[in-house]
Amino acid sequence: MEKWEIGAFQKKVLAHFRTHGRVLPWRETRDPYRILLSEIMLQQTQVERVRSYYTRFLKAFPTIQKLAAAPLRDVLVLWQGLGYNRRAKYLHEAAIALSKNKAGFPKDAAALRALPGVGPYTASAVAAFAYGAPEILIETNIRTAYLHHFFAERKDVSDTEILPLIEQTLYKKDPRIWYYALMDYGAHLKSILPNPSRRSVHHKKQAAFKGSNRELRGAILKHLALQKSLSKADLFKKLLPLKRSRAETGAVLEALSKEGLVRVSKDSLALAS
Ligand code: ADE
Repeated sequence: MEKWEIGAFQKKVLAHFRTHGRVLPWRETRDPYRILLSEIMLQQTQVERVRSYYTRFLKAFPTIQKLAAAPLRDVLVLWQGLGYNRRAKYLHEAAIALSKNKAGFPKDAAALRALPGVGPYTASAVAAFAYGAPEILIETNIRTAYLHHFFAERKDVSDTEILPLIEQTLYKKDPRIWYYALMDYGAHLKSILPNPSRRSVHHKKQAAFKGSNRELRGAILKHLALQKSLSKADLFKKLLPLKRSRAETGAVLEALSKEGLVRVSKDSLALAS
């Protein structure tokens, strides 16, 4: 790519950020714990849903030590309603590992990647946002920005085609601001255009919630968060409005137990502690 093309793209994205950049609580900090928390909450979850959960979570668990010392149950109760509850368990496990780590919070993406529940994107995002590291990041809004600007006429674009462009156009003076700006520009494009991400081979529409396993898991965890413990019969009764078979519910309960989110003992069910 020509130098002027890189400059023009950077200018456009940064100009949009100056006038329309979003003010978000996790952008006001460089605390890697807070940034890790935000990135985990933002996985598959809308920014506006995350805001209040993020604030409440940090009120309850302001430090890694506080989170590590809390029973898993308290963490799951706070996570209640945000969905994808395995994230809460991983985060709790990560806090326990970090609280024992004499070297402190890992400083680079490779070391961050070793934490439970932290994939390549999250590791790189924490390194970029907490430490200003020049990482190569891609997620849905960033992808949208590149598809719109560099692949306007294309279909079935793969991330392997986009990643070299992300590398070439990285605004090295300030990777942190650059990625905030890219995310906001991509989110803006989605709001005014038929989603450019549909032209990515990696684009997945979120599956319907109603009638899904995700809905059933959420409902079970909600009832268990409201009560210290519940008999199976009582839980089935509470789940009647969802119109699921016993077999379906039993299978989901078993999965939740295997994942360490629910404790099943004889006939009594409870959130894992
Ligand atoms: N700011 C920092 N990380 C973000 C993310 N994953 N989505 C939206 N805004 C963000």
